[in-house]
Amino acid sequence: MKGLILSGGTGSRLQPLTHTLPKQLIPIANRPVLCYIIDALQHAGIDEIGIIVSDKKELIKKKIEKEHLPGVKLTYIVQDAPLGLAHAVKTARPFLGKSDFVMVLGDNLFEEGLDKALKIFAEGRFDAVVFLIPVDEPQRFGVAEVKDGRIISLAEKPANPRSNLAIMGIYIFRETIFPAIDRISFSERGELEITDAIQQLINMGGRVAPYMFSGWWLDIGRPKDVLAANRMMLSSLSRKSKKGLFTERLSQNCFVTPSSLISGSILQGPLIIGENCRVADSYIGPFTSIGNGSFVEGSALEGSILLENVSIRRVEGIILNSIVGEETEISGRDSLQNGMKSKTFLLGAKSRIYL
Ligand code: G1P
Repeated sequence: MKGLILSGGTGSRLQPLTHTLPKQLIPIANRPVLCYIIDALQHAGIDEIGIIVSDKKELIKKKIEKEHLPGVKLTYIVQDAPLGLAHAVKTARPFLGKSDFVMVLGDNLFEEGLDKALKIFAEGRFDAVVFLIPVDEPQRFGVAEVKDGRIISLAEKPANPRSNLAIMGIYIFRETIFPAIDRISFSERGELEITDAIQQLINMGGRVAPYMFSGWWLDIGRPKDVLAANRMMLSSLSRKSKKGLFTERLSQNCFVTPSSLISGSILQGPLIIGENCRVADSYIGPFTSIGNGSFVEGSALEGSILLENVSIRRVEGIILNSIVGEETEISGRDSLQNGMKSKTFLLGAKSRIYL
């Protein structure tokens, strides 16, 4: 069994962050989204993982190589044009060979493991298992229709969905998916859709099982999803091991890397502070992640994510539910005394704000 993570895509709804950082590298509790997917695959016993990348290959490779991922063998596969998920699978064919594989979209974050679905796939000798989850707005997703324990039809973002079961972005396939991909044509949005390929597989007599997912799942498409994922991951940090984080636990759920310096500040977790940070005379509230090399002085933060090398000084009020891109500087003139008005930011790399 191999793993395939799709990490192309433009991440347009997360601009300006994604001008410089592919969305799969956006840090959630100070680790790129991709790392959590790699963890999940490894946890299910899959060490050989292909990552489909677009033009950002070197950046993705560089960032991922810095992470603590022992025992995993990563292969970067370049998809030269954004022609869809099925096109990505086709591009990965030399890497996949005849192996069965778990495919995960690189912006998926999920809690539950993959083991049960893998068991269903193996024991039922299915051609594919597709992870499904009930949602309120199925028309925003690929939608599956299920009958008697099988998927009988699928549609990509249908105007009139036949069920509320969204396709999450986790699939298990065997090599029977390739002839199905070869038979589909480009969709209206100009892509070879994996949803169409699975429908084609069913049309060709393939057996496709649903896997009803029951844990939490987030598709990191919008800023609010990124913040929600950060909250989820920080909440679970105190319950789980701190794999790859190299932090010291200051109190119950405040994780601070030893190379960082905290002085005269109130820290209220769950939160995480990366390497070589400096936090002085500040309040860092729950669900905040501070990236490596950041500096916070005389300011209040809560529910926010600072990427690397951010500087926040003497900002009035509280910075709430904000995402601040790398190397951004926010400076205010006054101290915290003048009321605690909240401000919300979504800032891209190298922004400068003088309040
Ligand atoms: C893709 C899939 C869709 C699935 C969704 C999950 O859509 O095509 O079937 O429901 O991911 O996030 P996209 O995000 O490319 O629009």
